[in-house]
Amino acid sequence: MSLLPVDTSQTGVVKKIVVLASGSGSNFQSIIESVQSGRIKANVAGLVAGKPGIGAIEHAEKAGIPFTILDASTTEELSSQLHKAFNRWQPNLIVLAGFLRKIPDDVVKAWEGTIINIHPSLLPKYGGKGFYGIHVHKAVLEAGETESGCSVHYVNEKYDDGDIIRQTTVPVHPGETPDTLAKRILAEEHKLLPAVISELLNRQS
Ligand code: GAR
Repeated sequence: MSLLPVDTSQTGVVKKIVVLASGSGSNFQSIIESVQSGRIKANVAGLVAGKPGIGAIEHAEKAGIPFTILDASTTEELSSQLHKAFNRWQPNLIVLAGFLRKIPDDVVKAWEGTIINIHPSLLPKYGGKGFYGIHVHKAVLEAGETESGCSVHYVNEKYDDGDIIRQTTVPVHPGETPDTLAKRILAEEHKLLPAVISELLNRQS
């Protein structure tokens, strides 16, 4: 199914989302499906892929979404490539869905209040540098936590530090491994992220 712009707003202006991803892109896919089903009333204007060959690019191709692949080794290059993508697509909301590079300060400033991130823990716990993907779940289990979850938050100049918008709690089961916990939390991410996107876009109108 292709992603035709959905205009259900009062103003006649189609809202635009840009997604940044570095991995398999299952969260990106959950956004695509929410747009296709009309749960998110917006158009996915583009994907910024952290590197070539990732699953997120395949999802974009299948859905007919334009994408750009980052090729930046310095913060300056990253900043310039992000500014270029955002200026081209003019998003109402920028969503980090498994994007693992820090957003440069000048980009955060230029798009303040517009960039959100999903993280697989109950922030502020298990956030910050080094806490990504499976490392988060290993640390949670090593600490003997009885619950974990996922958080969507605004992006500021520090890793995983901006204001929390919404969280979902997931219990840790006996005999849990990092992989089983990751899987159950990811299933919750796929519900939480589209719900928050929809809520924030509705708030803007
Ligand atoms: C997700 O679990 C997301 O929360 C996490 O990366 C995974 C990406 O999965 N993000 C972070 O750890 C950011 N600090 P996906 O590519 O299947 O959406």
